[in-house]
Amino acid sequence: MKDTNYILDRVSLPKLPLSFKILFTGYIISVGFGLLMAGVQIMMTHGMADGKVGLSLDDIVYSYYGNKEGTKLEAKLNGSMKMNAPDAERLELIKWARAGAPKDQYDAKIKAIVDKYCTICHVPGAPMGDFTKYENIKATAESDHGASFASLTRVSHIHLFGIGFIFFFVGAIFTLAEGIGCFWKAVIVLTPFFFLIIDILSWWLTKLSPAFAWLTIIGGIGYSVAAAIMLFTSLWQMWITPLRRKS
Ligand code: HEC
Repeated sequence: MKDTNYILDRVSLPKLPLSFKILFTGYIISVGFGLLMAGVQIMMTHGMADGKVGLSLDDIVYSYYGNKEGTKLEAKLNGSMKMNAPDAERLELIKWARAGAPKDQYDAKIKAIVDKYCTICHVPGAPMGDFTKYENIKATAESDHGASFASLTRVSHIHLFGIGFIFFFVGAIFTLAEGIGCFWKAVIVLTPFFFLIIDILSWWLTKLSPAFAWLTIIGGIGYSVAAAIMLFTSLWQMWITPLRRKS
């Protein structure tokens, strides 16, 4: 299929008046940097979720699904606090943490263990936590449920409106490109919207099951690549193509 639209014969990117080129270029540069900043921000907020630098599948799982198996209390009791209580008592504490740190069990037996082995150091005012109070030790036994539904709905609608808006204009500029068949042009214009939906959907699916985390990565890569193709093609055709035709 060839782009035979008469509009393009008159107003394709290389032939645009200077003022339009400036306007479109200003927009493309802002959006381009905006996307880069978004990438940096993702690295900073989610990239460290698993405790390691760089974005990985684990980061996405921790951010959306959470880490429901381990609580901080259990991790510490198997780690740096391991030496502080005999195995039998440690196991009691771990079972209690897994059960959700119920108050009745605390009163029945946990308080005694904590008072005997832990409050030597975890005294009132201690920077690593005052475990003479139930609320404080309970807080370390809370499991991480990942993103809340409230935050997911908020971030989802902001992304859909905001990114939808950005790609509308990026796509509108790109549709004025020359020499790209109308089938491929349509595919490229559609791609970011398609991956945007995949990306948002993947957050919700990952919240339900960690098996979907890879969809988030595919969604993000998909619309970054589509955006890069459109932004670079548009810039090239506005500024480089006319120069080449003159010479
Ligand atoms: C010898 C002193 C000492 C004793 C005894 C001790 N802790 Fe600790 N605890 C620390 C120090 C120091 C830290 C901070 C460093 C770290 O996290 O490893 C800490 C940190 C923790 C943390 C992480 C707190 C947070 O919010 O980051 C937990 C949970 C914890 N201890 C649980 C226990 C439990 C349960 C016991 C009793 C079985 C216990 N500790 C006994 C010294 C102690």
